[in-house]
Amino acid sequence: MNKKHLTVKKLGINNLQNVMQLQQKIIENLHPDEQHFILHRTEEDYMKSLNSSNSNMLGVFDGDELIAQTVFAMPKNGEKRDMPEFKSDVPNEDLVLYEAILVNPQYRGSGLMKKMLDFIEAHAIDNGRKHAIIQIAIDNPASWINALHHGMSITKVDRDPTDGVKVVYLEKKITHQPIIQPAYSNQNSYSLFLGENIHKKIPALFSKMQYLIESGYHGVELNKETQSLIWKKQSSGRAQDKIFDWAIKQKKDGKYTY
Ligand SMILES: CC(C)(COP(=O)(O)OP(=O)(O)OC[C@H]1O[C@@H](n2cnc3c(N)ncnc32)[C@H](O)[C@@H]1OP(=O)(O)O)[C@@H](O)C(=O)NCCC(=O)NCCS
Repeated sequence: MNKKHLTVKKLGINNLQNVMQLQQKIIENLHPDEQHFILHRTEEDYMKSLNSSNSNMLGVFDGDELIAQTVFAMPKNGEKRDMPEFKSDVPNEDLVLYEAILVNPQYRGSGLMKKMLDFIEAHAIDNGRKHAIIQIAIDNPASWINALHHGMSITKVDRDPTDGVKVVYLEKKITHQPIIQPAYSNQNSYSLFLGENIHKKIPALFSKMQYLIESGYHGVELNKETQSLIWKKQSSGRAQDKIFDWAIKQKKDGKYTY
């Protein structure tokens, strides 16, 4: 891949055919067991994101060729949004939803998904959004590893209410300010061994992941050396508040060095 030619653009109606072609290429490339990784969207579905104020599409081009795309939604308060089963306590106007992330198989391995998420995040913050969320099939580690690299945490593991697919939900507080990560207690870290063939192991880990979340853990990063997914237990609400207050004070005093 010649990265020199790569450009990132907001997509419009004139890109509809490119968008459909890229989706078709991805679908053909997915194994029958992987078809649930993405919704197979119609032209009408994509039109809603190419011609709307609250759902948008970002594309990456190599020259004139569209090689990666993402739908992202910034819903308004009071309107129906996708993924209503996750973060229903956060007002729509604070949210950005990442959806339909596709990278041409020939261009995989360069972290294009993460780059698109970084780009959309900056745009979403500029538009007043404070919280990013995504839902990913549990047996699609290529996608959720990218979301972890992007700084998101797995905070819910469940079946999708519409089709019953086992999914993980990730979230991230987003801000241009120095990030104050949720306070995780150092002692309470759990390493979930995945091994070399992540695909074989993942479906069986569904209940284990659910148990970890019920016990207050969040999936926060991948440790390549130990081939494990690292989970951290959240400190109690009070302890978190204390750390948050401390961080704000440090910032006010000019001591904040993140
Ligand atoms: C998910 C997708 C967008 C990621 O593409 P990408 O940005 O090129 O991602 P990369 O190939 O650079 O992979 C990023 C990370 O995932 C890891 N990874 C990729 N495939 C993997 C796999 N099958 N198993 C385990 N890890 C995998 C890579 O090692 C890399 O980790 P590293 O940076 O720590 O080395 C792409 O695979 C895709 O289009 N898939 C089909 C559609 C899809 O599933 N979309 C997501 C819907 S939520």
